[in-house]
Amino acid sequence: MGVCNEMKTNIAVFASGRGSNFAAIAKAIKSGRIKKANLALLVCDNLNAPVILKAKKFKVKVALVRRDIFPTKNDFEDRIIRYLKENKIGLIVLAGFMRLLSLGFIRVYKNRIINIHPALLPSFKGAEGIKDAFDYGVKITGVTVHFVDGQMDHGPIIMQKEVKIEEKDTLESLEVKIHKVEHKLYPEAINSLIREKLRIKGRRVIISNRQSRKRPQSDLR
Ligand code: GAR
Repeated sequence: MGVCNEMKTNIAVFASGRGSNFAAIAKAIKSGRIKKANLALLVCDNLNAPVILKAKKFKVKVALVRRDIFPTKNDFEDRIIRYLKENKIGLIVLAGFMRLLSLGFIRVYKNRIINIHPALLPSFKGAEGIKDAFDYGVKITGVTVHFVDGQMDHGPIIMQKEVKIEEKDTLESLEVKIHKVEHKLYPEAINSLIREKLRIKGRRVIISNRQSRKRPQSDLR
């Protein structure tokens, strides 16, 4: 997949807040649950985001790009693209990045941008997926990992995992359950993207035969 460094895919995580998924990905790379990957960059748009401290802890380079210092969204995204190119990024992983990327940006990294959402898409899109599902009273919710297209929480789905909402659950206990699933599912999806043969057919993502260890590669372009 994409640009590799000594056969490793360079990953950039984009995050705006807490960074628990960032930490889960960093740990998964360190422990070998995500293979052939290098967590090369954190792109963060929020000066006060706790994820920045997590990046320092894992010794990951930080690109702090505040939207408000750029006159247009285009200038903001161009600056990010420069950071991505400088760091030879092959895969962009959105983890609580609370901005919609433009179609121009997505085109540059076609099929190489993924996102995680804390609900079973297409239900409960948006910034409050866990609360919206809880308030609606659904019995089953979950987590979705998907490719990013121009619409919010919308592109072709790579993996989903269900989470039951039980009578004893509170919003807080549900959040804990959802995050636990996210921290397992996102590394699994990233590993699969890097190591397996994926095809996008319309809205469907088809994960076919596992690649041999010698030639990890993805079909995505
Ligand atoms: C995660 O729960 C992620 O699914 C959600 O933001 C949270 C970030 O948490 N993303 C969305 O809601 C996208 N619509 P984290 O900063 O602890 O990883």
